[in-house]
Amino acid sequence: MENIEKVPVHVSIIMDGNGRWAGEHGMERAAGHIEGVESVRACTEAAVKYGVKYLSLYAFSEENWGRPREEVEALMALMFKSMLAELRNFLDNGIRFIVLGHRERLGDELNRAIDDCMEKTRDNGRLTLVIFLSYSGKWDIMQAARRYAMEILEHPDEAGVRLEMDPDGFDRYLVTAGIPDPDLIIRTSGEMRLSNYMLWQAAYSELYFTDILWPDFREKEFLSALLDYSKRDRRYGKVK
Ligand code: FPP
Repeated sequence: MENIEKVPVHVSIIMDGNGRWAGEHGMERAAGHIEGVESVRACTEAAVKYGVKYLSLYAFSEENWGRPREEVEALMALMFKSMLAELRNFLDNGIRFIVLGHRERLGDELNRAIDDCMEKTRDNGRLTLVIFLSYSGKWDIMQAARRYAMEILEHPDEAGVRLEMDPDGFDRYLVTAGIPDPDLIIRTSGEMRLSNYMLWQAAYSELYFTDILWPDFREKEFLSALLDYSKRDRRYGKVK
């Protein structure tokens, strides 16, 4: 097995290019999403294999609700089906499954299945797989600010003092509370932007862009990103 000097604790992926992949293969966009699920499985297995502790995936943004209704429905159905199909795999491989995002916008049936899958895998510790669903970075910061403001109103002294004493204290209000910030963010398909993803948490993430379309991003490509990361010099704004 490839020897990686420095393995990122948290790898996050903006999975992009399913539609283009389908187009290139003369198929409907939905076929690209279905093939994309195979890449989700391949990268999850690779994350376990190489010792990554957190793998998070940007599966559906708040903005994605604006896609044609049939595509949104097909994506949600695929999410539902994939989750049920993978539960056994999560349990057998020690994978904790978490969904983060604006859950109120998801249907009851999907929400129930998510809760069930999260509950059944909550004690697993080999890899935490985080799926961002109906998520956007600005929404996350706004909901955190609202919850923080509510806490100040309810306990004016405690909440204010806590934040002053702990500069990272705001993190606890974000939906990612308890999850380390991503060390490495990968985006596939040649686009070079964050697209409203983890805006707060990405402050010092290393970014990796590749032209490979998501359905073609498998273990080999995942490993290339890890090897690239292991050569990076992270200074967090300081000098060495
Ligand atoms: C981006 O490609 C991909 C998405 C918006 C959806 C990602 C979803 C999956 C891979 C399927 C299910 C996921 C899980 C976690 C089971 P695009 O449609 O924006 O492609 P394009 O830019 O080429 O049009």
